[in-house]
Formats: sequence, C-alpha cells, structure tokens
Amino acid sequence: MKTIEWIDNQLKLIDQRKIPDELTYVYCTNYQEVIEAIDNMTVRGAPAIGVAAAFAMALAFINNDDLKKAADEIKSSRPTAINLFWAVDRVYNSDNPLEEALNIYNEDIETNIAIGNFGSKIIEDGDTILTHCNAGALACVEYGTALGVIRSAFNEGKDINVICDETRPRGQGARLSVWELQEEGIPVKLIPDVASGYLMSIDKIDKIVIGADRIAKGGVVNKIGSLLVALSAKYFDIPFYVAAPLSTFDMNNSVFDTEIEERSADEVTHYGGCRICPENTEVINPAFDIVPKELITGIITEDGIIDPI
Ligand code: MRU
Repeated sequence: MKTIEWIDNQLKLIDQRKIPDELTYVYCTNYQEVIEAIDNMTVRGAPAIGVAAAFAMALAFINNDDLKKAADEIKSSRPTAINLFWAVDRVYNSDNPLEEALNIYNEDIETNIAIGNFGSKIIEDGDTILTHCNAGALACVEYGTALGVIRSAFNEGKDINVICDETRPRGQGARLSVWELQEEGIPVKLIPDVASGYLMSIDKIDKIVIGADRIAKGGVVNKIGSLLVALSAKYFDIPFYVAAPLSTFDMNNSVFDTEIEERSADEVTHYGGCRICPENTEVINPAFDIVPKELITGIITEDGIIDPI
C-alpha cells in the first residue's frame, strides 16, 4: 500500500480522513489542490507532507506556474513539520523539479526501511511497545518511521505487542495506526490517551517509539500528547525513542522556537459530530508539543541511533 503515488502527471493520495471506514483516493493535477489536501489533512504526517509538497512543486513546474509563488504558498499550508519546507526548497533549487520530487519520493521509501532495520535492534522478543499518533506508512510514502521499526521487528519474527494511544483530538492513533497494524496482523490494542501513565506504572509497557515533525536543538516536536508520554516514561524509567529521517532535523534552530500549529476549536468541542461542552466554549488546541532532549533515550535515523541534538 502506498500513501502517495505519481501516476500520469497526477498526484494520487490516500484520503486519510476516510480511514478506517473507506480506502479512497484524491487526485491532484495542480499545486493548489495539493495545498488543499495538506491543509484539510487528506495527507498528513511529516514525511508524507514533505513528499506531497515536492510533487506540488513538480505540478507547478509542469503547469508553467510561477515557482517562487508556488513555493511560498505551499510553505504556508502547515507550519510545524520541517519536511515540508525542506522538500519545497530542495525541488525549488533543483534543475529538474519532477526528477527531484521523484528522488524525494524514492528516498523516503529507502530511508524508512533503513530506520526500521536500525530500530528493530532495540526491540526484544516479548516487548510491548507504545506509540502515539500515526508515524506509519500513512505518514510516509510507505512503511513508516515509528511503525516501520515495529514492522521490521515483527517481520524478523519477534513476538511483540503494540499499544496505540487514540491521539485526541483527531484520533490518528485510533483511526490510522490501529488500522495499519491490523492490516498486517501485528497484535495491537487501543487505549485512551489518559491511560498510558497507568499502564507504565504497572509494567505493561516496555518501550515507547514515536515519530517527529521536527528535531531541533534541545528536543523533538511531535503530536500533542507526546510530552506527557515522555514525562511518564522518564518517571517509570521506560526507554523513549523517536524514529525519524534526517530530513526532519533542523540543526540551526532551537526546538523551542518552532511554530506550533493551532487547529480549529471544533476538533475539541465536538466528538463524532456531537458537541461535548457548552456552546461558545473557548478552546486551546495546539496540534504539537515539544519533548525536551533530557526525556529522549535515542533517535532512530537511517544512519543509526543517535543522541538528540
Ligand atoms: O497532524 P499530523 O497527523 O500531521 O501529525 C503527525 C505526527 O505528529 C506524526 O507523529 C509525525 O508527523 C511523524 S510521522 C512519521
């Protein structure tokens, strides 16, 4: 299963808003449609956003659009995942935008397999692994980062169990990670986000592996809730790993300077289409948080497992 494909000068995306109920696709023929798909979360997850943004630039090139204008507009689709900015700049600065977008696409697949191979070394037979959000095939072209580590360990024959946080408010863990793991027959259980600390306290979790939207000086940015998981893990002395490609690293800036996307209030005020709080309730809805490096055991990259920067 590929989350993103390039077919006949069109970008084909799995519509992640419909998973797990339907496996349907959205086709983009111009860069503006890709921006819409990133903005409305048809495609999401840092590496997938990067690859989609690269093909948005390729579409702008094919359609003879102004590439500088396209690059600026694509970069304003979502603010936090650095892969988007990295991919747009790479294509913009290349001689052949389509070829460069295809390079980014192919590299994403190879990178994830390398991350999986390094990461599976930290997984032991019998481990129960907690993951947060979806850092799986759906967040990349295929295979995944955090779920790639789990896939590799499972494919090596290790007897593992996975616990997915539901990941409120958008439910990426419940909707996407559980679906992906079930598709491959990897044993998985879903928990409410608030249950992970308790499960750590009674020795039901051996390791934690999450993805990243940005890794910068001082720590890692990932889906809201990652910080609370990391704090509980530190308290209960449970290894906390981040799996991410080197394209997610921002070597020049402090992680605490990252722009954290604020999403709409109705993601919090409503659940399954029903309002769950009084009308006109004021909401704070940050989409990501920052895990300080002191809480991170290691970062699993395509070049090996390294310390946070
Ligand atoms: O808002 P989303 O669904 O795009 O957030 C995704 C995450 O936070 C992922 O954990 C992260 O992008 C890593 S994906 C390999």
